[in-house]
Amino acid sequence: MTALSLTKTKLSDVKADAIIVGVTSGRGGPFLVPGSEDVDKKFKKQLATALAGLGATGKLGEVTKMATLGATAAPTLVAVGLGPAPAKGARHERETLRRAVGTGVRALAGSGRVATGLAAANGAADVDDLRAVSEGALLGGYAFTRYRSAASAKTTKKAVGTVLVVVPNDRDKPARAVADRAAVIGDAVSLCRDLVNTPPADLHPAEFAQAAVDACGAVGCDVEVLDEKALADGGYGGILGVGAGSVHPPRLVRIAYSSGRKSRATVHLVGKGITFDSGGLSLKPAAAMEWMKSDMGGAAAVIATLRAVAQLKPDVDVVGWVPTAENMPSGHAIRPSDVLTMRGGKTVEVLNTDAEGRLILADALVRAGEEKPDYLIDIATLTGAQLVALGAHVYAVMANNDELRTELVASATSAGEQAWPMPLPPELRKSLDSEVADISNIGDRNGGMLTAGLFLKEFVADGVKWAHLDIAGPSYNQGEPHGYTPKGGTGVPIRTLVEFVERLAQSHP
Ligand code: BES
Ligand code: MN
Ligand code: ZN
Repeated sequence: MTALSLTKTKLSDVKADAIIVGVTSGRGGPFLVPGSEDVDKKFKKQLATALAGLGATGKLGEVTKMATLGATAAPTLVAVGLGPAPAKGARHERETLRRAVGTGVRALAGSGRVATGLAAANGAADVDDLRAVSEGALLGGYAFTRYRSAASAKTTKKAVGTVLVVVPNDRDKPARAVADRAAVIGDAVSLCRDLVNTPPADLHPAEFAQAAVDACGAVGCDVEVLDEKALADGGYGGILGVGAGSVHPPRLVRIAYSSGRKSRATVHLVGKGITFDSGGLSLKPAAAMEWMKSDMGGAAAVIATLRAVAQLKPDVDVVGWVPTAENMPSGHAIRPSDVLTMRGGKTVEVLNTDAEGRLILADALVRAGEEKPDYLIDIATLTGAQLVALGAHVYAVMANNDELRTELVASATSAGEQAWPMPLPPELRKSLDSEVADISNIGDRNGGMLTAGLFLKEFVADGVKWAHLDIAGPSYNQGEPHGYTPKGGTGVPIRTLVEFVERLAQSHP
């Protein structure tokens, strides 16, 4: 994992393999962004000209690499495009900085030490800019190399070793606190990405549950795992039903962080943990299965968020729930038209075994509701319809409470993730009516993301403020890497959830 450290050494003097500077675009550009003045001086104020000679224009996401030939302590310089300079008086957006540093660090994959002055892009380093730059560096430095053979490891790029961020004073308490928080976030996002990227044969429900025990137990959370026998005793028909087709039995994990003080609120997070989604007997076509190892992205984000929260210690109690199963076809699998009795007694007619996420979530939502949380939030790679509606970069937030939905979207924006509010139209509920059971697991295909949300809503205890995050697209990057986002697992929406919890801890009672 990439490490972070603050330094007050001038960028041109930092002993590193490479330095990253920012450039903006415009007539006569590229233009250097503040934070690289000393480097420019070493180039006799000709750095922008040299970069222009290499074709740099400063456009967003552009990467220009050059040798410094002794001008700076680092032998390589990477200039990252930030796009047009902000209007006079305006600032570089924090997310622009986060992405720019991520792009630069990603371009230097495999390097031992990389340094950047981008925390000063808006002039004197401000702690929020420092936070964005630190996060972008750590998230961009990630690489998943566990499955490379020794031979191919020579040619594959490893994670960046250390990123040094230049600040005016590396002993400044607020700056150090920001760097420490960024390290916690970086660690959580890497954990989530590793879990999502791990092949499903190495991450069955029992192993996934153990990963939660390891990751969260180590930071003082109380972690309990219910095995298939405990699930049967507890009446968890949804989790057992989905898990029935697999030789690897399901689990339900409860992870608790307690602030140990009089907390302002209790937040319960429930994550969909399907370790592989073949569709079950309603088998998916081959192409749709290619990335279904990622169908536990919601659960991985919950585990990672609990790990981060336990390290940041806000005055909020947080409980994470991970229902986890492998959705497989077999002679033991549930069939379309089978009826499951969920925890709490509601019955569900399973008309499509590929709508499995809502079945395991329903049990976990009921179980969480028994503890009467103030806020109940589920996070799930729930529907292909989410991708149709919002694409791969923006996740959906549905809720039974307007304030909670608004606060989650605001937390996302502030943390540099993209979320958008979606409705739960009551008119769609009747499409979930079943001929034989209390409810069916599929409804109208049109608005499929919303009917899935309406299904979950049926399992939320009265009076509990609940939100549902459909992260099907944004949790996994099938496309090209961009900014600080690699291919594969992204870590969305960990930053939103941590931000939400921290904001709650700071809000007035
Ligand atoms: N895990 C899938 C949803 C999904 C699709 C996530 C694509 C990420 C990318 C989910 O279990 C599923 O199969 N949903 C079905 C529901 C349908 C049968 C009602 C879907 O969206 O097609
Ligand atoms: Mn499915
Ligand atoms: Zn699924």
